Amino acid sequence: VKDPLEELPGVGRVTASKLRDIGVNSIDTLAMTPIHEITSRTDINYNDAMKFVLAARERMGWGFMTAKELWEKRKTRLTCTTGCSQLDNLLEGGIRTQEMVELIGEYGTGKTTICFKLCITGQQPPEKGGLGGSVLFFDTEGTFSPKRIRQIAEAMELEADPVLSGIIISRAYTSDHQEFLLDHAFDLCEKENVKLVIVDSVIAHYRSEYVGRESLAERQQRLNRYMHKLHRLSEIYDLAVVITNQAQASPQAWYLGGGGDNPAGGHILGHACTHRIFIRKSSGSKRVAKMLDSPYIPYRECVFIVSEKGIEDP
Ligand SMILES: Nc1ncnc2c1ncn2[C@@H]1O[C@H](COP(=O)(O)OP(=O)(O)O)[C@@H](O)[C@H]1O
Ligand SMILES: [Mg+2]
Repeated sequence: VKDPLEELPGVGRVTASKLRDIGVNSIDTLAMTPIHEITSRTDINYNDAMKFVLAARERMGWGFMTAKELWEKRKTRLTCTTGCSQLDNLLEGGIRTQEMVELIGEYGTGKTTICFKLCITGQQPPEKGGLGGSVLFFDTEGTFSPKRIRQIAEAMELEADPVLSGIIISRAYTSDHQEFLLDHAFDLCEKENVKLVIVDSVIAHYRSEYVGRESLAERQQRLNRYMHKLHRLSEIYDLAVVITNQAQASPQAWYLGGGGDNPAGGHILGHACTHRIFIRKSSGSKRVAKMLDSPYIPYRECVFIVSEKGIEDP
């Protein structure tokens, strides 16, 4: 079968394969890829790239629509329950496809546990509040635990084995490995009907590899590119994205105009995500989640607990 990319003028077998290596696996993806990304990561020159990117955009017929048309289009997005009605209410129903949620918090606040819970609820059919697809889990910290997922699934009275079979894990060992894996996620999401992508955490490698002020600009640029790529993935395959981010102090320090590097990644992550949720510990297993920033959900907070069931209402 001929690669659809090769239907574009100026794209032959060799160019198509170079594009695939940087995660551009279809005309849709190409239409959304910055020309600069192609020229900086392959040996394709600017004029050639420009020609076929424009041709791809023309094929897609993208341009303008009314807000009403966009509203109708967005109504088809799926919503997925977090398995905890407090958090669902905070998010107006749960996480949605074509949106990115950022969970910010220090160690032990339950970010990974929320991700585990979503690995289970995300696979449920839409009539049961899920997305009816498989889950792709990028584990950058080595904290993915099939044992804990089994426990949560069983506490939810679900069979654990099929749940585990529906989760594709990808362990990223360095930041460039993490980027490489995302490039290859495009094909995978299509083939495996992935409806939820989790990156736990998005920042750990960038943080440990880029130390010192002089490397900050490069770090932010790479992180920015990574986030935009995740966003494109969510739009192209109509899937939900959840990322986690480490933070040490209270959000006041940075959210209310303070400086510093908290949460890690700074404003790059904030601008790329649809909703930012800050989680802090309360007494015992209680946790407080705040909706810090969202285009349509007001600032508000809720309480949930971390338990055998993963997360649940208090
Ligand atoms: N089986 C369990 N039952 C109840 N609580 C658990 C269980 N396993 C871990 N926890 C709790 O979950 C929390 C760890 O949450 P985690 O999601 O790993 O945090 P984060 O990813 O934000 O660092 C800890 O407070 C721990 O006590
Ligand atoms: Mg964690």
